[in-house]
Amino acid sequence: MKQVINVNLKTNKYDIVISQSENDFLTGLKKTLKTSSLFVITDKNIEKLHLKYFTNLLKQKGYNVKISVIHAGETGKNIKSLSFLYDKALEAGIDRKSCVIAFGGGVVGDVAGFFAATYMRGINYIQVPTTLLAMTDSSVGGKTAINTKGGKNIAGAFYQPSLVWINSSFLSTLPRRHIKNGFAEIIKYALIFDKKFYDYLFDALDNETIAPKDFDYIIYKSCTYKAKIIEKDEKEITGLRAVLNLGHTFAHALETLTKYRKFLHGEAVAIGILFAAKLSLRTKICGPEVYKEVEKLLKKANFNLDAKNDEQQLLLLMKKDKKSLNGNIKFILIENIGKTADRLVKDDIVLDVLKSFTR
Ligand SMILES: NC(=O)c1ccc[n+]([C@@H]2O[C@H](COP(=O)([O-])OP(=O)(O)OC[C@H]3O[C@@H](n4cnc5c(N)ncnc54)[C@H](O)[C@@H]3O)[C@@H](O)[C@H]2O)c1
Repeated sequence: MKQVINVNLKTNKYDIVISQSENDFLTGLKKTLKTSSLFVITDKNIEKLHLKYFTNLLKQKGYNVKISVIHAGETGKNIKSLSFLYDKALEAGIDRKSCVIAFGGGVVGDVAGFFAATYMRGINYIQVPTTLLAMTDSSVGGKTAINTKGGKNIAGAFYQPSLVWINSSFLSTLPRRHIKNGFAEIIKYALIFDKKFYDYLFDALDNETIAPKDFDYIIYKSCTYKAKIIEKDEKEITGLRAVLNLGHTFAHALETLTKYRKFLHGEAVAIGILFAAKLSLRTKICGPEVYKEVEKLLKKANFNLDAKNDEQQLLLLMKKDKKSLNGNIKFILIENIGKTADRLVKDDIVLDVLKSFTR
């Protein structure tokens, strides 16, 4: 089944095509592109698993395909990869009219997007995500970035793709840990926007493996929510997009403290969501039944919610986060399943909740 979400931004419009049919992608591509010159960027794992299939698809349609492969995982999201891509693209004759295809997970999407934003002052790019996290979150919204020595996503740009093709059949080779990782952001959408979606996820997670039709529905719902938010606040200016940061202030602190080695992003976000629920309970934004519902779904998705860590360090790191204001930290809190509220919370309360949470 094919589903199309139109993302209507002030600056540009693009389609998210959710379909396992290659023809749906190729039709979208033909409609979008004015060039036959493509620069496919992927990583070493996807190169082994899916690159041949993907590039053959393009070549059969007459596209002139050049390929560049970066290191897999977070270590590939750096200035070295970017510099390597600039050189490779130039060598391959990629020009201002060519189009980049980011074929991979969130790392490939972020690096290839930033490459496209800056190569020859900006060329078009298309996202073809291959992880659940990228299909439900990072391939939509135009945030592109690389990490520097100083931290995560330090250099980047808002730069929207011209098309997103999501084919959930790529998930068949994705390791279980990365499937679970994707569920944190999906659960986040349900908690922010939609009790019915919460119930749907609760049932879908009953099964040992998620059925393809469930994946497609989950991806569709997630992208719809993300698109709705970015249409209203593309560059996180009005504060609306900030709602998507639910669980992220704590998650970023935990990831930094554990040097990005212990937790995948989604694993840290899952713990961050539970922390936000605990803070919501403590500040009486929600009652105990809401907290329990949040915990129940995160546990059902099999997240390890053990957050044992140094609470003072976590507090310090959270205060360094972008969401800190006049010493108080701004949190997205959970009022009810499907409803959030933002609040500035005083340090002593945050620390108090951290103590009960991290011991
Ligand atoms: N731009 C945004 O809005 C946004 C949002 C959330 C996260 N992110 C970024 O996304 C990154 C994380 O993304 P991710 O979780 O997709 O990580 P990833 O891109 O590192 O992919 C995870 C692992 O799975 C492998 N892989 C990818 N697809 C596969 C497949 N189909 N089969 C088998 N293996 C496959 C990759 O090679 C990698 O080893 C982080 O850098 C994060 O900052 C960006």
